[in-house]
Amino acid sequence: MLVRAAVRSPTDRLLDPSCGDGRFLAHHANSSGVERDARAAGAASERAPHAHIHNDEFFAWAQRARQTGERFDCVVGNPPFIRYQTFAGDARRRALELCAELGVRFSGLTASWAPFLVAASSLLRPGGRLAFVVPAAIGHAPYAGPLLEYLVGRFREVRIIAVRRKLFPRLSEDCWLAFADGFGGVTSQIGFAAVDAIRSEEALPGSQVRVDVGEWRDAWRRRLRPYLLTPEARALYLAAASAADGTSSPMAADADAGMSTQRRAAPSRLGALAAIDLGYVSGANDFFHLTPSTASRAGIPDALLQPTVRSGRLLPERELTLGTVDRWRRNDDPMLLLRIPKGAAVPARVQRYLGSDAGRRARQAYKCRCRTPWYAVPDVRVPDFFLTYMAGRVPNLVRNAAGASSTNTLHGVRLRCSASADDLLDAWQTPLARLSCELEGHPLGGGMLKLELREAARVILPLAGAALEPAAEIEEATALMRSWRHYDD
Ligand SMILES: C[S@@+](CC[C@H](N)C(=O)[O-])C[C@H]1O[C@@H](n2cnc3c(N)ncnc32)[C@H](O)[C@@H]1O
Repeated sequence: MLVRAAVRSPTDRLLDPSCGDGRFLAHHANSSGVERDARAAGAASERAPHAHIHNDEFFAWAQRARQTGERFDCVVGNPPFIRYQTFAGDARRRALELCAELGVRFSGLTASWAPFLVAASSLLRPGGRLAFVVPAAIGHAPYAGPLLEYLVGRFREVRIIAVRRKLFPRLSEDCWLAFADGFGGVTSQIGFAAVDAIRSEEALPGSQVRVDVGEWRDAWRRRLRPYLLTPEARALYLAAASAADGTSSPMAADADAGMSTQRRAAPSRLGALAAIDLGYVSGANDFFHLTPSTASRAGIPDALLQPTVRSGRLLPERELTLGTVDRWRRNDDPMLLLRIPKGAAVPARVQRYLGSDAGRRARQAYKCRCRTPWYAVPDVRVPDFFLTYMAGRVPNLVRNAAGASSTNTLHGVRLRCSASADDLLDAWQTPLARLSCELEGHPLGGGMLKLELREAARVILPLAGAALEPAAEIEEATALMRSWRHYDD
């Protein structure tokens, strides 16, 4: 499908920058492929004997090809989806340098596929085309912003096709398709289509929505995922967002008109109501998290023991009570954090625990080696609420009525305004807040939703507690977003 969309004539020169075993090259006579892995490059030569295969690192090859003026009519393929943690070394340095030369500044958190698209398209002749498999992260990852900005600034047409069913059923990664035509042109729209599945013998799906680049940039912070929703649902959400941010837009006014019989919303962003922080990183949980019986045998004073939540799975709904923490204590769970403030005197019995075999092992842990003194766990806070940031159905906001702290498996939320804890909890349960978690957070694979700190701060809460929005439409929109992250599969 991608080769058919990109090739216009049998004489077109096609390039696959990461050709693997040559399955794209096999579909077109005049093709060239680059592949770093010698075995895969060998397999590509066998599968596509007509093709020119370069067993090379693509960004090094592309730099030379740019200098020698080698150009193609289309670039096609399935780039490697190497996450930033493992996209390292010379290839990454060359990739980021080449993109910077082309005016695209990717942050250090960029996965490999985005620079592949930029570098490959820089080898196109005027009027050339691009057709790639891309991860669904193109719909939400921060580094998708600079990539799409580059595409709309260099092509006459840009089209992104969201595909709900997995293209590669054995991978957790969802894949979408990216197509661009008319290299050397420019566009103020991104064509967007959302389809359940694709069939390779059919034509590439056409655009269903023309996304205005200005709206994508400003209203949706360069995310395409909201365009999976109906225009009505998007308008409702933007109306709530502009009410929360104290701005108003024509779209918001339209949606308000439709809600004239409802009570007026008083939404707010979570970040305006509360400070959101990460929990602590002890560096050696087995050592720093003690069971009550270990703490008592070691003679650790109560003043240095802080009840703590080690995992979001342990949290009840809505409120963590002293009763729950007492149950953990009776079960002799490792629920006590050894909390020795920096500079505090360390009693002799605690020094014995620090000097034990377990203590000697703990102080070798990376985080412990990096701090002074090694046993003072930093950033231990007692927040008003805990927020699970990796969730199946919905992130859990739980009032901390037990004076507990938590590890960084949870966010801590501290109220900084007059909103009452109950109002916040009620607002968290509303359809609007749930849709907001879907739109401000991002899918993590396996049906999970993740809310980074800055995403959690953007969640919209209708604090008035009234039925502020047409709940049925909002719930439908939430269900749709969940189906796109496979929560129900
Ligand atoms: C997702 S596979 C795609 C293979 C093929 N296009 C397909 O769809 O079957 C990505 C390929 O990129 C290759 N690769 C990864 N980094 C590369 C680099 N820097 N330069 C060239 N090839 C690279 C990998 O060896 C792998 O074969």
